[in-house]
Amino acid sequence: MSLILWLPSWAGAFNSAMTLLQNKQKLKTDYIMLFFFSAILYYCLATFEGPLLAIRWFNMIAHNSEWVIGHVHSGALGWVGMSGIAVFYYFIPKLWGKDKLWSPRLLKWHFWLAHAGVALYAIALWVAGIGEGVMWLAQGDNGELQYSFVEAMNFKAPWLFLRFFWRSAICSRLILDGLEPLQYGAHAAYSSGE
Ligand code: HEM
Ligand code: HEM
Repeated sequence: MSLILWLPSWAGAFNSAMTLLQNKQKLKTDYIMLFFFSAILYYCLATFEGPLLAIRWFNMIAHNSEWVIGHVHSGALGWVGMSGIAVFYYFIPKLWGKDKLWSPRLLKWHFWLAHAGVALYAIALWVAGIGEGVMWLAQGDNGELQYSFVEAMNFKAPWLFLRFFWRSAICSRLILDGLEPLQYGAHAAYSSGE
């Protein structure tokens, strides 16, 4: 039954993606559109994963593991985050009464850095989550647990380190986030003083 949830989510995503694809040329060059497009793809990812997480045997592995946190952030950073960023970049020039951003190059950098960060966040937590979930459930012939809690922690430690590492990268992403409108604002204020 849970798998039926794919239908409404993916129908909405399909409609949005096809709407954006109506202007392929703009999609190739306009990074604001690309942020929106990738937000839709992350929505597909989160809503693909969600119904799977709701299946009982799947949930036995995933529940309480890092996997759920990965799922949360595919939606939170991938879908909500990327569409938020797109809205932000779309409105900043309009609020300053300009017709384009001050630096399209910084926008491009922001796009790739943000995607590298979110993708690594999700991949690291998938591996850590599936691994620890399977290790927690593994039983020997007499029903005894095969792995201790510490062994499961040791397995996921490098993956959590990867996430930690990328959190610093995401910090630089946030700096870029702040940097661009700031520079734009300064530039706009400077031009209006001329
Ligand atoms: C059809 C779509 C979706 C379904 C069926 C679904 C299903 C689930 C399930 C079953 C869990 C619980 C996993 C567990 O703890 O065992 C979960 C957790 C969660 N999901 Fe989704 N999900 C969907 C889409 C999304 C999206 C798009 C987002 C974010 C924008 C999201 C955010 C979350 C959050 C925040 C939690 C963790 C809640 C907590 O703190 O425990 N989900 N989801
Ligand atoms: C740079 C961005 C972010 C980083 C590094 C980050 C990191 C984290 C970490 C480390 C946790 C705790 C995970 C755990 O308990 O093991 C967490 C939880 C959570 N975050 Fe984020 N987060 C970010 C952005 C966001 C955004 C933008 C949203 C929502 C739009 C969000 C929603 C959540 C939610 C709902 C939880 C609770 C999940 C649960 O307990 O099931 N996060 N985040």
